[in-house]
Amino acid sequence: MPTTFIVLLGPPGVGKGTQASILAERTGLAHVSSGDLFRENIKKNTELGKLVKKILSDGELVPDDLTIAMIRNRLTRPDCEAGAILDGFPRTPAQADALQAMLAEFNGDVEHVPFINAPEDILVTRLSGRRTCRANGHVYHTTYNPPKRAGICDIDNSDLYQREDDQVDTVKRRIQVYMDQTAPLIEYYRRINNLQEIDGAQTIEAVTASLGKSLEN
Ligand code: AP5
Repeated sequence: MPTTFIVLLGPPGVGKGTQASILAERTGLAHVSSGDLFRENIKKNTELGKLVKKILSDGELVPDDLTIAMIRNRLTRPDCEAGAILDGFPRTPAQADALQAMLAEFNGDVEHVPFINAPEDILVTRLSGRRTCRANGHVYHTTYNPPKRAGICDIDNSDLYQREDDQVDTVKRRIQVYMDQTAPLIEYYRRINNLQEIDGAQTIEAVTASLGKSLEN
């Protein structure tokens, strides 16, 4: 079976998770979100969860070795046999190198790197209005993508909460960390892959349409 790995690049809050969920549903590919995996570990109070809890709430990056080991483990699960949509990984050049090495081992390759971008004021508005489902991490926005009943997830009736790292000060720190440590990946993938730039300031539906077109190329 051909393996299709898609790396979704972009700053915090631009809509990577939203688009990855839609794309996963349409393509049947697994949605692998490093942030969701860390939050799952924190919720279950695993050793990894204990190690990373404060790092996430401060808006800093988890060390590369822990992140790479977690992703490697996730990509060996059967639902990734046909490939995966990577949301939030890689986030540093060392993680990108590790991904190339891992995929070579699994006979896969990074086929598409959509880079979704939007101005900082839009990112802050999106993150401050984001609400997340406590049971399964489904994502809403109080204005742009509200649930049918305020505070309740449409899919599993779980309550919605505001992520600790979505407070304005932490959001600003996350954007700075992205600029310092993750933005270099734009050039990295421009050099080795066909980086496709997507205007993330559009509506959710318009971003989905642009993403769909870029993946056809
Ligand atoms: P992570 O969870 O990956 O956070 P992030 O990259 O900062 O991304 P977000 O989840 O905040 O935003 P998103 O782009 O997915 O936007 P979303 O679709 O939700 O990581 C969290 C933390 O984990 C990191 O800070 C770090 O500590 C750690 N971590 C994770 N990966 C790591 C790694 N590889 N290495 C080291 N550490 C790592 O949308 C945002 C909001 O906007 C939602 O409310 C949504 O409804 C709304 N929205 C989306 N699209 C639109 C649109 N087009 N128009 C209007 N509203 C929209």
